[in-house]
Amino acid sequence: MSASKKQVSKVLISPEHIQKRVAELGASLSDDYRGKDVLLICVLKGAVIFLSDLMRHLDLSVEIDFMAVSSYGASTESSGVVRILKDLEYSIEGRHCLIVEDIIDTGLTLKYLEENLRSRQPASLKIVTLLDKPKRRKVKIEPDYCGFTIPDEFVVGYGLDYNEKFRELPGISVLSDR
Ligand code: IMP
Ligand code: MG
Repeated sequence: MSASKKQVSKVLISPEHIQKRVAELGASLSDDYRGKDVLLICVLKGAVIFLSDLMRHLDLSVEIDFMAVSSYGASTESSGVVRILKDLEYSIEGRHCLIVEDIIDTGLTLKYLEENLRSRQPASLKIVTLLDKPKRRKVKIEPDYCGFTIPDEFVVGYGLDYNEKFRELPGISVLSDR
C-alpha cells in the first residue's frame, strides 16, 4: 500500500482533549519529581510535539536531549532490530531521566532503548508516553505515565507519522485505506 492510498479517516483524540491530558501529565510529573533536576529524553521524531507541549507544563528544573532510533521493518510494523541514529549529547550517569515517547506499540523499540539507557547508570529512568497500544505488545514493558490507551489502529498526527506524513495534524487520527 503506497502513502497516496492512505488517508486520515476519523479523529480519535481531539486537539483539546490532548491539551487537557498533557496538562494533567505535567502536573503529575511536577508532583512526582518535585525538587529534582530532570533530563527529558525525547525520542525523535514522533515525540517532539508531545515534548514541547509537556515541558511547558512542568514546574521543575528540566533539560532536554534527543535520541533517534530506527527499527528495521515494514513502514507500519516494528522489527525489534534497533539502530541508534543519533545518541544523547551528554552522559546520563547519576541523573534523573524521563524517556518521552509518542507511542508504545510492540514495545520492541522502547525495550531496547530502556536497556541501553539503564546500562549508562542513571539515578532513575522512567517512561512517559502519549499513547499506548497494549494489545500489540510483544515484550513486557509498561510506561510509568501514559496519556491515552488506544485500540489497535494505526494513528497519525500530533507528531506521529505514516511515511513521514501527517505529523502536523493537531489531533490524533486513524489512518485507513481509501
Ligand atoms: P514499537 O517498537 O512497535 O513499540 O514501535 C514504536 C514506534 O513505532 C513508535 O515510536 C512510532 O514511531 C512507531 N509507531 C507504532 N505505532 C504507530 C502508529 O500507530 N502510528 C505512528 N507510528 C507508530
Ligand atoms: Mg515513528
